[in-house]
Formats: sequence, structure tokens, C-alpha cells
Amino acid sequence: MKIGIANDHAGVALKKEVVEHLEMQGHEVINFGTDTLDSVNYPDYGKKVGQAIVSNEIDLGILICGTGLGISIAANKVKGVRAACVSEATSAHLAREHNHCQIIAFGARIVAGELAKDIVDSFINAKPMEGRHTQRVALIGQIEEETSFELDSVSCGIE
Ligand code: RB5
Repeated sequence: MKIGIANDHAGVALKKEVVEHLEMQGHEVINFGTDTLDSVNYPDYGKKVGQAIVSNEIDLGILICGTGLGISIAANKVKGVRAACVSEATSAHLAREHNHCQIIAFGARIVAGELAKDIVDSFINAKPMEGRHTQRVALIGQIEEETSFELDSVSCGIE
């Protein structure tokens, strides 16, 4: 599987552990940075992996910041992305099975190395479930369509 990964300065060390773990399993990992402890803005990194998902450059994405919250919120702003921020493995596989998430996020200040690897394994080994789950995911996409139209109208009104 082709897996994209990105993080802010808080996630550098944990990202290294996760990449090693994935490569040992034979996955191709695309690293979108950051790789130094210099302070960066997590939205830039959430956006990179979100865009790589919607352009089909990667199959799945992993995001790490201090809490996992900011970077997942940013990724979810990319149209078509479903990113879940979790701190245990059950939510990680359900995010893929029920919510068809393409990105999993977690916090380097919240979960430790072994738990992070469990989260990643649960996520990438899970398969999206169909039927009612597909219908509900379609409803999420519908909200995106409806509200982006409203936003377009609002911005047209103020130009
Ligand atoms: C950076 O200090 C921190 O705010 C960031 O990593 C993240 O936790 C934001 O959600």
C-alpha cells in the first residue's frame, strides 16, 4: 500500500518510528515532512496529505501533531477528505470500516510509540464496510456539496 505521512514539529520522533514500522511491513511510505524540530504550522501538513488523498497520489494517510486535532481538522477542509483523530485502535479500524476515512491522525503528546503503531495497523488493515455505511458517508459528501454552494453564494454577495 502507498501511505502518505506528515506531521508538525511535535510529531517528528513518532513519525520516524511509524515510518520504520510501515516500511518493515513492505508498505511504500511518502513522507510529506516536517523532519526538523523547527516550529511549523500544522495546517500546511494536513493539507498536503489531504490533497495527496484526493489526487490519488496515496492510498491512505497518517497525520501527527501534538494532539492530532489541529492537523486532522485541517485535512478535513480538503474537499472529499475524511480524517479521524483517535487515541486507540478500535476507533482507528471503525473510522475506516464505518466512516470510510482515508486518513488517521493522532497526537504525539497523547499516544506513545507502541499504541501509535497499533492504531496505524488497525487502520490500514481495515476495509470500508458497504450498505448503510456507504449511504451515510454519501450524506457527509452531500453536506460538503450543499455548504460549499452556500459559501460560494456568500462570497459572491460581498464581492
Ligand atoms: C503545536 O504546539 C501544537 O499546537 C500542535 O502540534 C497541535 O497539537 C495542534 O492541534
